[in-house]
Amino acid sequence: MKKIIITGITGQDGSHMVDYLLKNTKHQIFGTVRRLSTKNHENIEHLKNIDRFSIIDMDLTDPHSIRNIILDIKPDYFINFAAQSFVAGSWKYPIQTWETDANAVLHILESIRRFAPDCRVYNAGSSEEFGEVICSPQSEEHPLRPQSPYGAAKCAARHIVRVYRESYNLFALQGWLFNHEGSRRGKDFVTRKISHSIAKLKKALEIDEVLSYSNPKPELPVLYLGNLDAQRDWSDAEDFMEGVWLMLNNKEPKEYVLASGEMHSVRSFLQESLKCIGVKYKISGEGVDEVFSLEDGRPIVKVSKEFYRLAEVDELCGDPSLAEEELNWKRKFNFKQLVSKMVKADIEELKKT
Ligand code: NAP
Ligand code: GDD
Repeated sequence: MKKIIITGITGQDGSHMVDYLLKNTKHQIFGTVRRLSTKNHENIEHLKNIDRFSIIDMDLTDPHSIRNIILDIKPDYFINFAAQSFVAGSWKYPIQTWETDANAVLHILESIRRFAPDCRVYNAGSSEEFGEVICSPQSEEHPLRPQSPYGAAKCAARHIVRVYRESYNLFALQGWLFNHEGSRRGKDFVTRKISHSIAKLKKALEIDEVLSYSNPKPELPVLYLGNLDAQRDWSDAEDFMEGVWLMLNNKEPKEYVLASGEMHSVRSFLQESLKCIGVKYKISGEGVDEVFSLEDGRPIVKVSKEFYRLAEVDELCGDPSLAEEELNWKRKFNFKQLVSKMVKADIEELKKT
């Protein structure tokens, strides 16, 4: 039985990776968590009492905790999904972002080289590394031109992963994953923020119907968003876990782009979500004055400067053809299916409350 350490299991990718590996391998899995004042184990609640899975403590900002788990477990695979992953937050916490997304990767590599040199290491790379792009779609050949402290930290990690791979002959790599989403996504990220708010709107409209004679009509929850014209290449998170595992089990430590190859705007994600609950609306104003309202005039979506970025990445669109050809990696969900899946999951979640 091989031993796999996965960091960041309370987050989206780490929790999906544990599910994927429990289903598709017979290996023993150790997932890391850090101490928080309030436990946030919703994404791993279903994993309690599984023999092949254990939770261990590790904080990326403490090199001793990284060293100890590698020394104690001597893993065959180390999958590092833990990070300060919120791009907007990286301007507010640049040092913390650098510590967790760049320096911690060096600590991991140092301990791997010393205590588990045969271990295969995956570090989570990002399309944010391409940043201010010079051509579209972006393949593995595109230069690194980050636009945020987050993107710069991921680039630093990429360089040190390559240096350790080449200097110490480690099987260490960092794929470029474009945006991937789902019902376990944090509610600060735009897709989940939208799907969750649209589910709340649906619930409010159901109550509204019961109170149809009330005058004036009650206010509805308003969703505040930033740049509606920002575009991203969005995929389903579960589809990406197989791609990461294929990269880790390739004959050589080669780095691939995982993406859908399609770009959609925040506005289209929003409109597709509204379509899922069948609500009729009108749009007025432009830019920061743009408002989505019901036909009776009550606002449901407004724009706020608060959610604009200091620098935006305008044209992230990935070219997954190399991964499709060489790894035989395939996506199962397209954009519309992803939106519908997320909105439905949030509607179900709200029914429980
Ligand atoms: P996520 O949901 O935000 O999860 C991040 C995880 O990292 C959480 O489990 C978090 O733990 C943990 N973490 C943060 N700081 C830590 C620290 N100091 N010590 C230990 N653990 C820490 O992110 P995700 O979407 O799953 O993304 C996984 C990885 O892929 C990240 O590296 C991200 O940058 C990268 N990535 C994501 C995407 C995407 O579209 N999702 C695309 C490209 C790259 P807490 O719960 O304790 O905060
Ligand atoms: N978060 C957020 N909130 N973003 C908004 C909002 C809002 O209210 N309104 C518009 N946006 C726009 C942002 O300006 C950005 O252009 C886009 O929506 C996506 O933002 P996020 O969902 O926060 O994701 P991200 O693309 O910045 O970062 C995610 O993907 C990266 C891969 O490209 C994260 O998962 C990163 O960890 C990942 O590396």
